[in-house]
Amino acid sequence: MSAHPRVVSLPQAATDAVPRHVALVMDGNGRWARQRFMPRFFGHKAGVDALVRAVNLFAERGVEYLTVFAFSSENWKRPTEEVSGLMSLVLVAVSKYLGKLAGDGVRIRIVGDRSAVSDKLRQAWEQAEAQTRHNTRITLAVAFNYGGRWDIVQACRQALAEGIAPEAFDEAYLSSHMALSFAPDPDLFIRTGGEMRISNFVLWQAAYSELFFTECLWPDFGVREIDAALGAYAQRDRRFGGIRPPAVAQGA
Ligand code: FPP
Repeated sequence: MSAHPRVVSLPQAATDAVPRHVALVMDGNGRWARQRFMPRFFGHKAGVDALVRAVNLFAERGVEYLTVFAFSSENWKRPTEEVSGLMSLVLVAVSKYLGKLAGDGVRIRIVGDRSAVSDKLRQAWEQAEAQTRHNTRITLAVAFNYGGRWDIVQACRQALAEGIAPEAFDEAYLSSHMALSFAPDPDLFIRTGGEMRISNFVLWQAAYSELFFTECLWPDFGVREIDAALGAYAQRDRRFGGIRPPAVAQGA
C-alpha cells in the first residue's frame, strides 16, 4: 500500500457555505389562492411579488445566480384562461418591476423556447435582458416555456448542425450549448409547495445539486424559508461522487 494515500480533490463548491447558483421551482400559487377563496391567477400575481422579494434576499446572502421555473413546456396543458393569464402576468410584471430589478443590480436572462410565445412577450424579454445586461449583483434566469428535456434536445440539435465528430462530443461540449451555459451548475435545488419532484427542470445541470423541499407555498416563501434552505445547504457534505479525504491525508 502506498505511504501517500491518493486524495481525490473536490470541486470548489464542496466547501462553499453559500450556493453560487440556486434553482427554484415556485410551486403552490394555486393552493395559496384557493386557501383565500380567490382565483388561481391571484396566487400567480402574489407569486411574482414573492419572486421579486426572493431575488433580493438571495443576492443579499451572496447567491450569484437564481434560476426560477416560471412556465414549463408542460404548462400549456393548463386551461387556456390560466395560460393566457400567465402570459399577460409576465407583461405586467415586466412593466411593474423591470425598473426596480434593474436598479437593484439584477441581470435578467430568459431561458426556454421563445418560438412559441407572442411577439409582444418576446420583445418584453428582450427589453428586460438588454436593460439589465451590465448588472452584476445577481443573475435571475427565468425559465419560460422551458423543459430540461427540451434543453438537452436543442443542445444536441445544435451539435448535429455543427457537424461535430462523435469522438469530440463530450459533456463540456453539450453543456456549452445548453440554455444555462452562462451559469455554473446549480448547487442547490429548492422546490416549494410540498411536492418532491424535479418536474423536468434543469435535468442535466442538477446532477449534483443538493435538494431542498418545503411545504411552504410559493407566495409565502420569504426570509425565514430562504435562511432555512441556505442553512440546510451549509450542512450538506458534497462529495460529487468522490470521498472525503481521511484526516491523515488532508495535510499531506
Ligand atoms: C406553480 O404553482 C406555479 C406556476 C406554474 C407559475 C409560477 C409563475 C410565477 C410565480 C410567475 C412568474 C412570473 C414572472 C414574471 C417570472 P401552481 O399553479 O402549480 O400551484 P398549485 O400546485 O398550488 O396548483
